This record gives sequence, C-alpha cells and structure tokens, in this order.
Amino acid sequence: MRGGVSESFRLDLLLVAFILFLCLQESSCSSLNNLKGSLIMDIKEDSLLLETSPTAAPQPLLPLLAPSPLAPFTNSTSPKLSGLCTLNFAAVKSMMAVTSIDCVAPFAEYLANVMCCPQLETTLVILIGQSSKHSNMLALNGSLAKHCLSDFQQLLVSQGANDTLQQICSLHPENLTEGSCPVKDVHEFESTVDSSSLLDTCGKIDLVNECCEETCGNAITEAAKKLALKAYDISRMDDPHVLSDHTTRVNDCKRIVHRWLASKLEPAGAKHVLRGLSNCKNNKVCPLVFPNVKNITKACGDGMNNQTRCCNTVERYVSHLQRQSFVTNLQALDCAASLGLKLQKDNVSKNVYNLCHISLKDFSVQVSGCLLSSLPSDAILDKTLGIGFVCDLNDNIPAPWPSMSQLQASSCKKSVRIPALPAVASGQIRLIIDTDFSLIRQVLKD
Ligand SMILES: *[C@@H]1O[C@H](CO)[C@@H](O)[C@H](O)[C@H]1NC(C)=O
Ligand SMILES: *[C@@H]1O[C@H](CO)[C@@H](O)[C@H](O)[C@H]1NC(C)=O
Ligand SMILES: *[C@@H]1O[C@H](CO)[C@@H](O)[C@H](O)[C@H]1NC(C)=O
Ligand SMILES: *[C@@H]1O[C@H](CO)[C@@H](O)[C@H](O)[C@H]1NC(C)=O
Ligand SMILES: *[C@@H]1O[C@H](CO)[C@@H](O)[C@H](O)[C@H]1NC(C)=O
Ligand SMILES: *[C@@H]1O[C@H](CO)[C@@H](O)[C@H](O)[C@H]1NC(C)=O
Ligand SMILES: *[C@@H]1O[C@H](CO)[C@@H](O)[C@H](O)[C@H]1NC(C)=O
Repeated sequence: MRGGVSESFRLDLLLVAFILFLCLQESSCSSLNNLKGSLIMDIKEDSLLLETSPTAAPQPLLPLLAPSPLAPFTNSTSPKLSGLCTLNFAAVKSMMAVTSIDCVAPFAEYLANVMCCPQLETTLVILIGQSSKHSNMLALNGSLAKHCLSDFQQLLVSQGANDTLQQICSLHPENLTEGSCPVKDVHEFESTVDSSSLLDTCGKIDLVNECCEETCGNAITEAAKKLALKAYDISRMDDPHVLSDHTTRVNDCKRIVHRWLASKLEPAGAKHVLRGLSNCKNNKVCPLVFPNVKNITKACGDGMNNQTRCCNTVERYVSHLQRQSFVTNLQALDCAASLGLKLQKDNVSKNVYNLCHISLKDFSVQVSGCLLSSLPSDAILDKTLGIGFVCDLNDNIPAPWPSMSQLQASSCKKSVRIPALPAVASGQIRLIIDTDFSLIRQVLKD
C-alpha cells in the first residue's frame, strides 16, 4: 500500500508486532518501551531535515486537518500583557516555545491528550516552581492567578498556540492557585514533608520503570497526604466535608509537590520527570470517545454472516474514531481492547478486527497512519517543512482482539521479563504537516 517500505523494515515491524503481542499477554511492557526509547534516540541523532524518500508520495488531502489559511506559526505577534503578573517567565522561555508548537493553532485539539496539554501543564508547574525561588510561594492567590494565566496564554498565542487552550486543556485560574491544599509556603512545605528523600526519589526517574513501579509517583502521593493532613485539626474533625474532600485535597496537594520539585530541579530535568509522570497516566487510558456500537452489532452480531456488510460498518465506525485524536502506540492498544470488549458485551463474538483487517494505527487520526511513541514527545517546528513529529509502528499491525484473561492480566507484573531484543535500526517515520496545513507527508528513512 505504502511504497518505499523496505523488507527489513517489515521484519522490524513484525518484531515490534510480536513484542506488542507479548506485551498485551504478559503485561510487561518494559522491552517494548526500551525499543521505543531507542527509536527516539535514533531519530534525535539525525538532523531534523530528513531526506524525502522518492517513493514516499504525498498522502491525499487531509480535509480534517485542512483549516482555512492562517498566520504561519513562525510569525510572532505582540502579546498584550497585564503587567501585573510577577511570575518569572524568562525561566521557562524555551519551554514555552516548545509548548506553543505542541499546541499549534490548527492541531491543538488533535494533539491535546498526547502532547499539548501535558506539555502545557508541565510548563505551568515549572513556571510557578521556578518563580517560588524568589517568592517562597508554591501557589498564586486568586487575583494574581487570573492575570498570570492571561499573560501565559497571551505569550503562547503570540508564538502560534491555539487561542482556545482554556477549553482544550481545561485550564482555569484555579490551576495556578493552591486549590484546597493547606500548604503553599516553601518553608512550611519543607518542614512538613521529608523533602530530601522526596528529591532523592523524584529528582530523576526511569521513564519506563516508573510507570510500573511508581516509585516517584508513590513518594509524591505520600508527601501530598502529609500536606493534606494539615487541614484537619481537631476542631474541624466533625466537619462532614472533611472526608468527602480528602481526595480532592490530596490531588491539589500533589500539584504543590510537583511545583516544589520543579523549584529544585533545572527546568529540563523537571520536564523529564513531570512529563514522564503524566505519560504513565496517559498511556493507561484510551483517550477516544466511542460512539454507540449498535450499527456494528446489527451488521456483525452473532448470526450475521454478510462479511462485506459487517466490514463496511466497522470501517464507517472506525472513521468516526479517526476524527478525534492522535494516540500513542500503547493508547491504541488500550483503544483496541476497549472497543473489542464493548463489542463482545454486545454479542459480537467474532474477531471483527481480524475479519476486517483493522490495525492499531486505524485508531489514530485519519490518513496520518501515525501512532506516537509511548514516551513523552514534542512536535518539531521545521521552518521549511512545517510542523512534524516522530511516529512509531506505522505499518499494519493488527489490532489485537481482547480476551477476558488478557484484560485481567493487564496490571503490571514485575516478575515477567521479556528477553532483550535487538533494537530496531531502521524504519523511522516522521509526519510532516506542510506550512499550508493541507498536506501530510510521511518521510521514511532506511
Ligand atoms: C509572516 O511573516 C512573513 C515573512 O515575514 C510575511 O510574509 C507574512 O505576511 C507574515 N504573516 C502574517 C500573518 O503576518
Ligand atoms: C483552535 O482550536 C479550536 C478547537 O479545536 C479550533 O476550532 C480552532 O479553529 C483553532 N484555532 C485556529 C486558529 O486554528
Ligand atoms: C486544571 O485543573 C483541572 C481541574 O483540576 C484539571 O482537570 C486540568 O487538567 C488542569 N489543567 C491544566 C492545564 O493543568
Ligand atoms: C495576591 O498576591 C500578590 C503578590 O503576592 C499581592 O500583592 C496581593 O495583594 C495579593 N492579593 C490578594 C487579594 O491577596
Ligand atoms: C451483503 O451486503 C452487501 C452490502 O450491504 C450487499 O450488497 C450484498 O447483497 C449482501 N450479500 C448478501 C448475500 O446478502
Ligand atoms: C450508524 O448508522 C447510521 C445509518 O447508516 C449512520 O447515520 C450513523 O452515522 C452510524 N453511526 C456510526 C457511529 O457509525
Ligand atoms: C446478547 O445475547 C444474550 C443471549 O442471547 C441476550 O440475552 C442479550 O440481550 C444480548 N445482548 C445484546 C446487547 O444484544
């Protein structure tokens, strides 16, 4: 189907498919993730401008991603700043530039879950964390939060970010305050939690193992619980809200812990940790919204034998999903499992993925055929080519049809180890979105 894919590339993908399968069955994804890590590293060693393979013909128009012409994202406009925000924006200048590209106007919605919002949230945490070095405060008060959020958005939009990030990432002034966490002062923080052991545990994380073992994640939760407890002195124990509020309070305190970490680490190190943590959470859930499956049930349910009709229906259904979001390879596995399970509950017992050749990449944005890596990544601005990002697993890896036993085994099992496999050496793909936003080209490198 897609030209220019070498034989060795196919073999590599078979290997990846095999690992994916193992990963689903045995639920130890560390080898998969290591493999992804090496893919990314390979890419990063190359120059940003990869040669276009002559056989990688431009893909058809992508109507979905072809908005009306708009200001090229490389042009800066002047932000209108309030002049009242005391945050140290200079400390996160380069990070904000990356965020603007991850949330670039026409694509923010499609990248929201996988890139834009995690990067936005991380940048905000680091901005407040770094600023606390001077203010000693890990949160802003209400009026300051409003001004600072507005300035933050103005600065992003002036560099090309979408101007509706408030909706896309549910970003509110409250995201800059302490919420219901009783501690925001740095000194009180440090006298409440064991800050040196927290920094030891979370100063550096292993992006792959952290998702299974949650070493840093647990340390953050413990610290947040300690902070949250400060809200309950004896006199307030009878308050009926105390119990129901607890989860929210701990979550609000987690944000304070994140900001404190971001004040102790260099911005790049803080980004590694914070994006890594949000990535663990993200990869566990399929971000797609599934419409009602009754069309498929009618066409493919037990007793139905017209394969053409069944597969037409499945394809139409999948095309609805493809208007939603780019997904990572692990999310695509989650999505395949969720939909498969939904169908089985609705009496579609035959493996329609197999029957209709549904592959993992069918769960990502239409035509792009792009699954993102399971590790955190950012979009890349290339002044000649446009916006691009690195894709993984772009060939037709069949979507695995879930079985109950596989799903039950889907929590992390540390004892299961997949033997080390040779790293994939070739076959990286970058997705380039042209500056006129009308084309998506896939660039293959052998
Ligand atoms: C962006 O910059 C280019 C080159 O300076 C210019 O030709 C173009 O008109 C600018 N676009 C907008 C919307 O200002
Ligand atoms: C910003 O995102 C919204 C929601 O996806 C979209 O409707 C709008 O067109 C985007 N803005 C620009 C300038 O592309
Ligand atoms: C802002 O806070 C809301 C509610 O806690 C949360 O759902 C959202 O993800 C946060 N957004 C950002 C960008 O931090
Ligand atoms: C909010 O914080 C700023 C800076 O610390 C301070 O100047 C201002 O008075 C505070 N506003 C309120 C309403 O507490
Ligand atoms: C199967 O469905 C297709 C498409 O709906 C239809 O054209 C065809 O006649 C059907 N075949 C049978 C045997 O019913
Ligand atoms: C279900 O079928 C109806 C009628 O063909 C169609 O209008 C609708 O878009 C389909 N829904 C999905 C989710 O495929
Ligand atoms: C699935 O089949 C069972 C047994 O035939 C039936 O009781 C149930 O209502 C069916 N469920 C759906 C969603 O069609």
